Amino acid sequence: MNLSASATPVPHADLTLRADEPGAVINRNIYGHFAEHLGRCIYEGIWVGPDSPIPNTRGIRNDVVAALKQLQIPVLRWPGGCFADEYHWKDGIGPREKRPSMINTHWGRVVENNHFGTHEFMDLVEQLGCDAYICGNVGSGSVQEMMEWVEYLTSNADSPMANLRRANGRDTAWTVKYFGVGNESWGCGGNMTPEFYADNYRRYNTFVKNYQPDHPINRIACGANGADYNWTDVLMRQAAPLMNGLSLHYYTLPKDNWQHKGSATQFAEDEWFSTLQGSLRMDELVTRHSAIMDKYDAPKRVGLIVDEWGTWYDVEPNTNPGFLYQQNTLRDALVAALNFHIFQAHADRVAMANIAQTVNVLQAVLLTDGANMIRTPTYHVFEMYKVHQGATTLHLDLTSPDYTYGGQRIPAVSASASRDAAGNVHLSLVNTDPHEAVTVTCRLVGLAPHDIAGRVLTAPAMNAHNTFAQPEVVVPQPFHDATLSGENLTINLPSKSVVVLTL
Ligand code: AHR
Repeated sequence: MNLSASATPVPHADLTLRADEPGAVINRNIYGHFAEHLGRCIYEGIWVGPDSPIPNTRGIRNDVVAALKQLQIPVLRWPGGCFADEYHWKDGIGPREKRPSMINTHWGRVVENNHFGTHEFMDLVEQLGCDAYICGNVGSGSVQEMMEWVEYLTSNADSPMANLRRANGRDTAWTVKYFGVGNESWGCGGNMTPEFYADNYRRYNTFVKNYQPDHPINRIACGANGADYNWTDVLMRQAAPLMNGLSLHYYTLPKDNWQHKGSATQFAEDEWFSTLQGSLRMDELVTRHSAIMDKYDAPKRVGLIVDEWGTWYDVEPNTNPGFLYQQNTLRDALVAALNFHIFQAHADRVAMANIAQTVNVLQAVLLTDGANMIRTPTYHVFEMYKVHQGATTLHLDLTSPDYTYGGQRIPAVSASASRDAAGNVHLSLVNTDPHEAVTVTCRLVGLAPHDIAGRVLTAPAMNAHNTFAQPEVVVPQPFHDATLSGENLTINLPSKSVVVLTL
């Protein structure tokens, strides 16, 4: 009996990897993070205090720092988010027991004791070995307050704020590479019009002084909410010469309904499909915002800073709705990988991206429960993809079969390739189809590899996830299903998977 004659053919993708056509360098900050005073991100997730039985260094969890260092975390954004526009930095310095409290009005109306402040954050970035991206308060703060924070952080002069910092135990100024002038000024940051914010940006930014000529601060203006292209147009027209970056926020929801977004773990194929389809929308957003930026900034001096992105689901049952705590499945891993491919395809304009958020909030890479910490599937994508950090993109031509669901379709295969400083070529691939493997035939141009090494992230179920009881349900495994024959590489890409190959 000839079984092959009646068997359904395996879907097939054609790929050409042009190693002789290098593109833009992938800014490592595309693999950046965001940690807000929100729920259990900062408190419990990062800060436990020096007296905690949880192993810590000056109050900061050792397990979390070690896990983030494994990702080569390049940059961390803080203190918000919406929190940034109600944060008054002077409440977060000096002896902790004397710091005043405040109400965190956006996130559960909990009392914020200000124990994690400027010194603790800068200690965190020093422990991580990453750059600081601090977001200043435009919504409820004054120009003077912002100006003084910058002086406190970065001035080595014999000046009032630098001396206040010294009195609080830090002699040498820190370096702050990125400073955001307000967050979501179109919403929680003040409900401003783009014209009003552009004027405010110009005014506040004037007083973000550079105290370190060798380390000038990169200023990031608040950018658009999703597809608000007018916001980008107005900001670029009125303030482009005064900024180094313009942000963009876009979250992926399974259902287009903020009241019922969908569960992080209890979902069927309809929400698998809609979530991945929604993530791919990032490409259209980045393309269209970039085109507007090109009008005013052809040399692409101003970076597009996607400083909030990721999935946003209904909170886990029986958790504080204001804390935005959600689990993280294989679906989130694919969302992360698809977004990285999009950012890398636009590496000429996208200069930074910060997933929301690092620990215990939204699409977290780490979850903690008391002294325990687990890595999510999203964490593993960051870890597998770190090979792309700082590498040079290589041109790809891809023809993919469709993954269709409910009469709608998205490409089954997504891919991105880069060459690192050592000359290794890294090819990452995603198969969005939860049922069908895809055979990818890849022609290699300008590259004659001798060897392939690969890893795959997949699982039998779409909603597979790691728990504190079973932390290694979704972890990368060695991948052996890629074969080289001359200039051709054949990859059998499993259903619902992320694969990274090194050639
Ligand atoms: O990341 C959660 C919130 O989402 C941030 O505080 C805000 O900027 C955005 O609306």
